[in-house]
Amino acid sequence: MFLVSGRGSNFQSFVDHISLGVLERASIQAVVSNHKGARALDLAREANIPVFDFEGVAGVKFASREDREKCRQAFDNACLQMVKDLRIDYVVLAGFDQIFTKEFVNSLAGRIINIHPAYDLRTFGGRNMVGGGVHRAVLSNSVSYSGCTVHFVSAEIDQGPAILKRRVPIVNEESPESLEEKILKQEHVIYPMAVQLLIDGRVILSQDGRTCYVDSYSNNWDINWWKRQVAYLNLKEHGKEFAI
Ligand code: GRF
Repeated sequence: MFLVSGRGSNFQSFVDHISLGVLERASIQAVVSNHKGARALDLAREANIPVFDFEGVAGVKFASREDREKCRQAFDNACLQMVKDLRIDYVVLAGFDQIFTKEFVNSLAGRIINIHPAYDLRTFGGRNMVGGGVHRAVLSNSVSYSGCTVHFVSAEIDQGPAILKRRVPIVNEESPESLEEKILKQEHVIYPMAVQLLIDGRVILSQDGRTCYVDSYSNNWDINWWKRQVAYLNLKEHGKEFAI
């Protein structure tokens, strides 16, 4: 099940990876949003995947803090119910802009993942590190690279254990926009790979949920993955007509 709030490019990359046979033994049972008009929902409808929009809290004014928290709780409960009813294995956040209750995160421990558009989540993750703000922060810190990280979701925002990371170099005169574009391309490639690793049982989360061990190498797993992923890269490079 996907949770989305915006344009849905990561969601679309999963749709493409599944339809091309790159991502194996995976199907998307539902796409849920806290924003009725999210473009990601249109993409899901186009892909014939059931969509749900529940009233959310992000960008909404409430009469009181209590009302806001009630709404958050109701959203989380509705999602949890769906996870149970549809027997969902994994909840994938793809540009989801709402913070969960601790209970929600804890009850899905090891089954809920996110992607963040930075390499160093300690410095460039957290409550205020969203959208272009992440890239502006990276560029004003004079670091030589940024990147993206797929991680388990824990109660501390963007601080759950990393499953996969990819670096993206920062070049002279890099702008937040150019950096975002380069990173997003890499997100589309590593996020489905991380999910395949989970599905294939190659990601082991420690008992305390603080670290995880990932085996992407034994039995040529990575080579076989890349061989399949060429079909997706061709699609991106040349358009649908050249898809394998
Ligand atoms: C991505 O940059 C992702 O890293 C962050 O939100 C953005 C979502 O983009 N969590 P999209 O909706 O998948 O296009």
